[in-house]
Amino acid sequence: MSESHTEPIHVLISTGNPDKAHELRALLGDRFVVQTKNEAGFSDLIIDETGSTLEENARLKVVGLYRALLEEGKDPNALWILADDTGLFVDALDGRPGVYSARYAGPGATYADNVHKLQKEMEATPWQNRGAHFRTVIALCRNGETETVEGILEGRILEQERGTNGFGYDPLFYVAEEGRTLAEMSDVEKNHISHRSRAYRALLKKLEEEGALVKDDDNEE
Ligand code: IMP
Repeated sequence: MSESHTEPIHVLISTGNPDKAHELRALLGDRFVVQTKNEAGFSDLIIDETGSTLEENARLKVVGLYRALLEEGKDPNALWILADDTGLFVDALDGRPGVYSARYAGPGATYADNVHKLQKEMEATPWQNRGAHFRTVIALCRNGETETVEGILEGRILEQERGTNGFGYDPLFYVAEEGRTLAEMSDVEKNHISHRSRAYRALLKKLEEEGALVKDDDNEE
């Protein structure tokens, strides 16, 4: 007997970032009922990302929410808890900002602060050395067990910002195969190729193969 779910699965995402929540809802599709931690009443829950890897931080985020549910007397195993952590790894900067991408320009840095710092640090870097990649790690907690998967997108860091869609470093991240930055793509186009979408597709495929999730025929590649 397969254990596949036919009812939508309730997923709690351990993020307070509305940009991410917006992308995730589109990525996860109809097989899930998605709630963010803020929507579930945990907007005061701050989970410090003290890990030295994306894996550690993604795990910290799901474990933090798991414990908070327990403390509230709720059953954390009644739903799935998801978190992802992303970093931009720039070759010419020995992989920085990497796991510190959100705080690259300092604590409380805005997206614009981080973009400007990156532009400044790479001022003298020629085009051929401007390679970079985004890497996303997702952690999923089901019944107290946490697993992780990753997704990667290769690109190059532009000198000047291009495009106004997306968020974070998107205006500087040029994807050669597309001939555009991520910020020049629509949400749908970005979701088709992005590091985060690759990680989510890898996770969904793994869950389908395990029989934990019914196949979504609308979402076939
Ligand atoms: P987080 O830890 O996953 O929230 O990501 C850390 C930082 O990486 C964010 O604050 C953004 O600056 C950047 N980031 C994450 N995902 C993306 C993306 O899809 N495009 C551009 N920047 C991103």
